[in-house]
Amino acid sequence: MATPELIEKLNDILRWEWTGVSQYSQYGFVLAGNWREVYSTRFKESAEESFRHAQTIGEKISAYGGVPTVERDPIKQTSRLAEMLSHSLDFEQTAVNLYTEALSMADGVDRALVVLLEEILLQEQDGVDELTMIVREHHIDSAAEHEAASKVG
Ligand SMILES: [Fe+2]
Repeated sequence: MATPELIEKLNDILRWEWTGVSQYSQYGFVLAGNWREVYSTRFKESAEESFRHAQTIGEKISAYGGVPTVERDPIKQTSRLAEMLSHSLDFEQTAVNLYTEALSMADGVDRALVVLLEEILLQEQDGVDELTMIVREHHIDSAAEHEAASKVG
């Protein structure tokens, strides 16, 4: 049976997933320039993933007799792709931390919840791994561009 503390932690997660729905959608809307075609779709898919997770966690909170939150955390807004990617990496890392915390609370209490949280945790960790690679490549690109520009100049 879920404790009030566990339900509260699930609501922390739900609030974070609502944040993802808004933040990723916003990035998808406003991104302009050469990379729009690639990243706008990616951000919108990430918003949809957050929405799916929000639905799963919201249903679970309700099943435990809790009240699923309608709040979200503050959005980090920017129109620069590099910042969007870096904020996205931070977002996914925080999600990994939240699900890990919830898992340690659910362990030994509710096996089905452990399985559910582990499944989502894997997806959040995939996000961290993928964005880590993208941000790393982006840095290399920036360094290469800087070097090319300095040769021209
Ligand atoms: Fe998520």
